[in-house]
Amino acid sequence: MRYGFIGAGNMCSAIIKGMAAAEIYVYDIYREKCEALGSKVNVCADNNEVIANADMLILGVKPNMLQGFFDAHKAALQEHKPLLVSLAAGKTIDFLEECIGVDMPVARVMPNINSVCMSSTTGYCCNKLVNAEHKNQIEELFGNIGTVMEIADESKFPVFTALAGSSPAFCYMYIDALARAGQKAGMSRDQALQIAAETVLGSAKMILASEEHPFALIDRVCSPGGTTIEGVSVLQKESFESIINSAIEAVIEKDKTLAQK
Ligand SMILES: NC(=O)c1ccc[n+]([C@@H]2O[C@H](COP(=O)([O-])OP(=O)(O)OC[C@H]3O[C@@H](n4cnc5c(N)ncnc54)[C@H](OP(=O)(O)O)[C@@H]3O)[C@@H](O)[C@H]2O)c1
Repeated sequence: MRYGFIGAGNMCSAIIKGMAAAEIYVYDIYREKCEALGSKVNVCADNNEVIANADMLILGVKPNMLQGFFDAHKAALQEHKPLLVSLAAGKTIDFLEECIGVDMPVARVMPNINSVCMSSTTGYCCNKLVNAEHKNQIEELFGNIGTVMEIADESKFPVFTALAGSSPAFCYMYIDALARAGQKAGMSRDQALQIAAETVLGSAKMILASEEHPFALIDRVCSPGGTTIEGVSVLQKESFESIINSAIEAVIEKDKTLAQK
């Protein structure tokens, strides 16, 4: 299996770093980004060289660069027909197929920034030409940087983008807010941040390991008349759930807007 990467930015370099030995071809406008990936990659002179060598082609450029990429490389794609994997937020399978203008296997994949520490929650959806073997190949590649799940119905992809692609930013905000509150209450910033991050990590593991509903777990932390119920009541009074809901809705709306451009 030969992998081609268009772009060697944040996401592609995280994926490549997670890969075991493989035949990897990469091109980025900034050659130094490719060279920083070391001897495990073949640094190409241009995108045509990547396309010519790739069984799976991963498009790791920003969504607004995609159209220009397709305009310049349509002929090479039509000739080589790799399994095309787009990482671009908001760009639908229909858009990608229209840009290529020829039948070929196309997948839309959304990893998240936690791929840097091999903890991405990655989702993908495919066109009809992606077969079971292609899906295994996608799951194997992105399994190197975390967990992978198929979102078979593409209409749910904007929801996946919000819940997995964007929500790391919300989780970082929550952890930071906890740490700042600890700092305000007199703890050192570093210690408060470590406690907040480890507690969120442990709580996530608890949700995944437990068969109980999150509310049952909340009840288990809240002793009657105790300390935790005081904080939970404030979060409810200040519309914690409603704010999260609005943030997720805003991401979904933006994703739909990007799809229309
Ligand atoms: N970062 C994330 O957390 C994340 C999460 C999920 C999905 N994604 C998706 O992953 C894709 C890449 O994001 P990123 O954060 O890795 O972007 P990035 O760090 O900007 O990397 C993209 C790299 O590709 C270069 N480039 C642009 N056009 C090119 C071309 N025609 N040929 C070769 N290289 C080219 C860029 O140069 P310039 O800087 O000059 O453009 C840049 O060095 C995006 O579509 C994004 O939506 C990112």
